[in-house]
Amino acid sequence: MAYFHIVSLRLNDQSDQELVLAFLAESGDEYTSGEALSGKLGLSRAAVFKSVEALRLQGYRIDAVPARGYRLVELPDRLSSLELSPFLGTHDLGRNSVYLPVVDSTNAEAFRLASSGAPHGFVVIAESQTEGRGRRGRTWASPASLNLYCSFILRPDLPLSRVPELTLVTAVAVTECLRDLGIHPTLKWPNDVRVKHRKLAGILTELSTDGDRAAFVVVGLGVNLNALRTDFPAEIADVVTSVREELGERVARPAVTGSLLTRIEEWMDLHEEVGFAPVRTAWKEMSQTLGQSVSIRTERGEWVGKAEDIDETGALLVRTPSGNVERVLAGDVEQVST
Ligand code: BTN
Repeated sequence: MAYFHIVSLRLNDQSDQELVLAFLAESGDEYTSGEALSGKLGLSRAAVFKSVEALRLQGYRIDAVPARGYRLVELPDRLSSLELSPFLGTHDLGRNSVYLPVVDSTNAEAFRLASSGAPHGFVVIAESQTEGRGRRGRTWASPASLNLYCSFILRPDLPLSRVPELTLVTAVAVTECLRDLGIHPTLKWPNDVRVKHRKLAGILTELSTDGDRAAFVVVGLGVNLNALRTDFPAEIADVVTSVREELGERVARPAVTGSLLTRIEEWMDLHEEVGFAPVRTAWKEMSQTLGQSVSIRTERGEWVGKAEDIDETGALLVRTPSGNVERVLAGDVEQVST
């Protein structure tokens, strides 16, 4: 009973802080008086004061000017639920989350949590990964506290054959969101978000099966946000980029992460409601693969052809030199010069 009391007190404190923070974030450069905050949020003046003090202790810079009120000046550069909350416009995605300074891989952790029952929409975010993984057994370089490394748990009602669509849904949402920031990435099939030949973000979808359906899906997303090329291992420095490299300035990671999760859920909702068709249209518009001569490397070997389209399940359609169209479901695709 006593334990429950302490826990519920903590939860109330946290949600008071989230309310105050959301209001101050929304108000931008405007000052809000303690009285207005208390009236609008339904909190006592003492609770508002206590929340502001608690937020300051956690690294938020909040100006207080007599007769004007409070103004949020700076957020800490962290991705815990408190920092994300003002920027999340989601119903499920990220509403439950865990934030870790370091983890082996956020995908591995999300998989463990999903296996023990973590709900749809649960997000694992880490500041660094010791075994960040990419597609086809590659590693994902994860310099600490600069980028976004996150994985989310989905419990979709989908046959196994349709799960790969979720990778393309995520790729479209991420690309759209990054375009809103003023950069122009394109997509290399199936999941690379690139600026020209440099990789900006990657998606790794893994699943657990239940008969011919997905029991759960873990979608892992890595987005290079504030790392400079020199923050990556030398052997990949020439093939990576980041939002900071492209824009020439740092970005606020909590705000960008909140927008990414919000956009991903919007596209997931659309996909659930109407199917893959709008995702296919958007993916094709963003593609750097279609129309190109490509070499395809799969477990069965390597061959070349022309990437013509993606089909209604997201598979790549490649015309071979003999004129047949092959449906590629998995593999590495590289553009080749003709
Ligand atoms: C790829 O392009 O090869 C996929 C890269 C996916 C990287 C992300 S980072 C967060 C999540 N955790 C991992 O171990 N991998 C994904």
